[in-house]
Amino acid sequence: MEPLKGLILSGGAGTRLRPITHTSAKQLVPVANKPVLFYGIEALVDAGVTEIGIIIAPETGEEIRVAAGDGSQFGAEITYIVQDKPAGLAHAVLTAADFIGDSPFVMYLGDNLLRDGLRGLVATFLADEPEALILLTPVDDPSSYGVAELDGERIVRLIEKPKDPPSNLALVGVYLFSSSIFDAARGLEPSWRGEYEITEAIQALIDDGQRVQSEVVSGWWKDTGQLADMLEANRLVLEELQTRLEGEIDEESRVEGRVVLEPGASLVRSVVRGPAVIGAGAVIEDSYLGPYTSIGAEVQVRRAEIEHSIILSGSVVEDLGTRMEASLLGRNVKLTRSDGPPKTLRLLVGDSSEIEIV
Ligand code: DAU
Repeated sequence: MEPLKGLILSGGAGTRLRPITHTSAKQLVPVANKPVLFYGIEALVDAGVTEIGIIIAPETGEEIRVAAGDGSQFGAEITYIVQDKPAGLAHAVLTAADFIGDSPFVMYLGDNLLRDGLRGLVATFLADEPEALILLTPVDDPSSYGVAELDGERIVRLIEKPKDPPSNLALVGVYLFSSSIFDAARGLEPSWRGEYEITEAIQALIDDGQRVQSEVVSGWWKDTGQLADMLEANRLVLEELQTRLEGEIDEESRVEGRVVLEPGASLVRSVVRGPAVIGAGAVIEDSYLGPYTSIGAEVQVRRAEIEHSIILSGSVVEDLGTRMEASLLGRNVKLTRSDGPPKTLRLLVGDSSEIEIV
């Protein structure tokens, strides 16, 4: 078999993480201070797949090119492929036809995170040589995903976002394909949601009697497309954090549990209870940072308490007077409180933001 190529899908519209994704690709939102996309690239390289194509959208593609570059920082060689409109995962595959050629390939959805990496899957695919190998995992809300109906180990049917799911086994966003997926994708009509669905292309392989194998994921898996999932992914990744304290910690500060403090970051009269990560140049003063918190580079936190949250680079949080939790702040957000009556809120908030005052 020819060496496997990698295809990461980082196009799409990202409507569910608005407003963060108004200005930035959802695949670049950081989990434990590292863009989601980078976990996918690293997993491919770790499994020996270094020739990687990344599907990008015209609007957010440039930002992805700048972040991932030519791939040398990962030991990969990256080719960017522009998909002119987000017409579906099967459309993205067809857009990459020239890049893939006749090679088998791993398709990885750029907003997915898989704890156990890809080595085992790649080994199974190379050993068994099916036309497709898909991953499944039990979920609580199968109607938000592609869902598989099995008969023993055999896949009988795959349905995209079914209203009435035949099982709780969702399709995980990692697929291994031979080039026969191209013919299957070319034969598709748009689905009810107007997309060319990879789920239907795989169903076409099954209907054609080709061998489609499945495996159930053993470690955790997250599709980070929504806020709650993003926070959960952040929690799961931080769970495995190793302590590294390279910033400044003054005598009146305390660090408990596993914490990463990047160079140039400083803690002043503050308590950090890990797992938590604090980016380069961040300043934490007279504050408490609780578990499962990721603070981006150059963020400033003063007289505030933050827990189970993600704060992107350059933001300022001051004098909250109440604990902030389960929150995601975008880049360069300024969140402060000014004292004194009357108690009012003064806001300058972008489109589609969500603010809950509790
Ligand atoms: O996360 C797993 C799920 O991913 C599967 O269970 C579903 O069967 C599969 O269809 C997919 O569903 P989503 O609706 O969550 O896919 P989403 O639109 O979020 O796109 C996934 C990634 O692919 C995301 O990084 C954006 C990118 N993409 C998406 C479209 C529609 C593209 O690059 N081009 C596209 O045209």
